[in-house]
Amino acid sequence: MITLGIESSCDETAIAIINDKHEILSHQLITQYKEHSIYGGVVPEIASRAHLEYMDKLLEASFNEANISPQQIDVFSAGLGPGLIGGLIVGANMAKAMAFSTGKPFIPVNHLEAHSLMPKFFDTNLTFPYLLFLASGGHTQILIVHNVGKYTLLGTTIDDACGECFDKVAKMLGWDYMGGKDIEEHAKLGNPNAYNFPRPLLHSHDLNFSFSGLKTSVRQTIEKIDIQNITEEIRNDICASFESAICDIIYHKLTDAIHIILPKYPEIKHIVTSGGVARNMKIRDILESIAQKNKLSLSVAPPKYCSDNGVMIAYAGEQNYIAGKKSNFSITPRPRWPLEEL
Ligand code: KG4
Ligand code: ZN
Repeated sequence: MITLGIESSCDETAIAIINDKHEILSHQLITQYKEHSIYGGVVPEIASRAHLEYMDKLLEASFNEANISPQQIDVFSAGLGPGLIGGLIVGANMAKAMAFSTGKPFIPVNHLEAHSLMPKFFDTNLTFPYLLFLASGGHTQILIVHNVGKYTLLGTTIDDACGECFDKVAKMLGWDYMGGKDIEEHAKLGNPNAYNFPRPLLHSHDLNFSFSGLKTSVRQTIEKIDIQNITEEIRNDICASFESAICDIIYHKLTDAIHIILPKYPEIKHIVTSGGVARNMKIRDILESIAQKNKLSLSVAPPKYCSDNGVMIAYAGEQNYIAGKKSNFSITPRPRWPLEEL
């Protein structure tokens, strides 16, 4: 079975063609970095136009790379939300049009489900149910993934998402948008104990997160020093101390989640993390140590597949189709689409 998936929910235009042997036949991805960087963030209208502009070229390149024709695709899928409505419409309409003209099914995909299932594409030992830490630019959630289409939300952020917090701190330090990777790079050279940033909701007795107080504390620290006087060493120390606060928060919340969940679901054998923040090696290390302590295994996709990509949409489309989801041409994109509504 061959599935094509289109991702266009934010600032990545991506198309993947995969088969049901977990092989990637083609993966084409364009990051709209140059379009948005001068504005310091993703501009929705510019993003939709860029998706439209890139889509045809990427499709042609995808079929060339996979060396197949549209008629050989068995299932067409696209991410239908959550995300920016303009981009979602571009991807959804393209996939629907190809499915309609070839007489094949169109399977709508939830973007968060695609992140949640991605590690399973690479790790064939990963079995349901698993505990998921999903951390992207827009979401920070702890969930139980029972099966395709079946999720229990255990905790979520009550304000900023973890990735958003990374991005805002990066901006305060003078880096471009989507600055999580810059913070990670600079944190490697800094002292994690240089600044004692707050760890909000650490002992709140629930599994919710809050990152806005941490962000404000970093801002106040920078304001006190004055951005003009910030040396490279101070910058590195702020990054390392900030990353250390994030790691502490994740360590506590995931440890609490395991203590609450494992007695009820002893069949859970894996912790899984996905979303762009899961690229961060310190965060992976923290999750690895939690997994080992609790005799679980950690499963994470290769870094580039933690971020938005086409393979995750194709795989989620394929898995939903196998699970019996019906082709649906009347469904329209949803800017908000929580996983629990699946
Ligand atoms: O999953 P993703 O690619 O897009 C969304 O669905 O939001 O996640 C993007 C987020 C951004 O906030 C970005 O700064 C963050 O992932 N990110 C990182 C790293 N690489 C990307 N955060 C921390 N450390 C990284 N190395
Ligand atoms: Zn995403």
